[in-house]
Amino acid sequence: MALLLGMESSCDETSAAVVEEQNGILTVRSNIVASQIETHRLYGGVVPEIASRAHVEAVTKVTKDALDGAGIALSDLDAIAVTSHPGLIGALLVGVNFAKSLAFANRIPLVSVNHIHAHICAAFLTHTDLKPPFLALVVSGGHTCFYVVNEKMEYREIGGTRDDAAGEAFDKIGRVIGLPYPGGAALDRLACEGDPKAIALPSPALAGEEIALSFSGIKTAALNYLNSAGQKGETVNRADLAASYTAKIVDAIVKKTGLALKQTGLQTLVLAGGVAANSHLRAALETLCKKRNVRLAMPTVALCGDNGAMVAAAGYFGYRAGRFADTALNASALDNPEGVI
Ligand code: KG4
Ligand code: ZN
Repeated sequence: MALLLGMESSCDETSAAVVEEQNGILTVRSNIVASQIETHRLYGGVVPEIASRAHVEAVTKVTKDALDGAGIALSDLDAIAVTSHPGLIGALLVGVNFAKSLAFANRIPLVSVNHIHAHICAAFLTHTDLKPPFLALVVSGGHTCFYVVNEKMEYREIGGTRDDAAGEAFDKIGRVIGLPYPGGAALDRLACEGDPKAIALPSPALAGEEIALSFSGIKTAALNYLNSAGQKGETVNRADLAASYTAKIVDAIVKKTGLALKQTGLQTLVLAGGVAANSHLRAALETLCKKRNVRLAMPTVALCGDNGAMVAAAGYFGYRAGRFADTALNASALDNPEGVI
């Protein structure tokens, strides 16, 4: 049995959670998320300096609430896991330094966690019998990438977007059609009311057998469509645009997922990241996996966005392998920084 505290502060959510491991099964004991979305909504996006300050204000209470919620004391913890990369550097530094202080002052082992890997590990909290190897697709505000995760819980990236992330593409169009930041969830709902075939848009799936996507083209095409309608004085059917845009993005992701499953021969797919909450993407991947006889493991919608429980889950695998961080642990904005474990 092990108890882990997971800490997350890479973007605009300050979160701490306690996860319990019993015989390899991970259970969420508490998961406290303080979201800054309302603060950043004013600016239409995350303002890094404001995010860092808001993390400083929230981190102590969030951590205390997570421990209280789990009914445990600091001394009960077997490890503290913290997101050290990638993300906004100032925001990450708040969580990393808080976790380092807590760990070293109380002699608790510290585990450094990659935020993208943490999204993938959220699946273990929902599907307790999930076992690697599997294909993982992370679709978030900052990333859209495919990984092969092997039996040792090692991650190998096999493809993804060449430019923007899917979440960023959703948020951008959501913003220009007047949806509140972040537009992803609202665009998802709006898309349910429109015709997915109404507006012709380019596919984000790059031609050929590469597991490669590009969202910049469809984003520009949607912006051009809106500008040209504006110039002609025409009203745009926002639901049709949301539906057509979503359908093209989902189709492209499903196409490349199918290819990745074929190329790797893996029988399990993990879908993770904030955009994994998208109802159209969830439904389309369910259809694909049913057709291919592949197991689909998705975290519950509540565990798709940034949260401390997924960090604790990823931290468990580092803890189990004895991969501990020391006082030199630093934060990094990069996906694969040198010198950070
Ligand atoms: O994983 P996440 O919480 O943060 C990052 O690591 O980036 O993902 C946030 C992204 C935002 O772009 C947000 O609009 C998007 O996830 N998102 C959605 C939905 N819910 C959140 N995108 C599409 N459909 C949704 N239902
Ligand atoms: Zn995230």
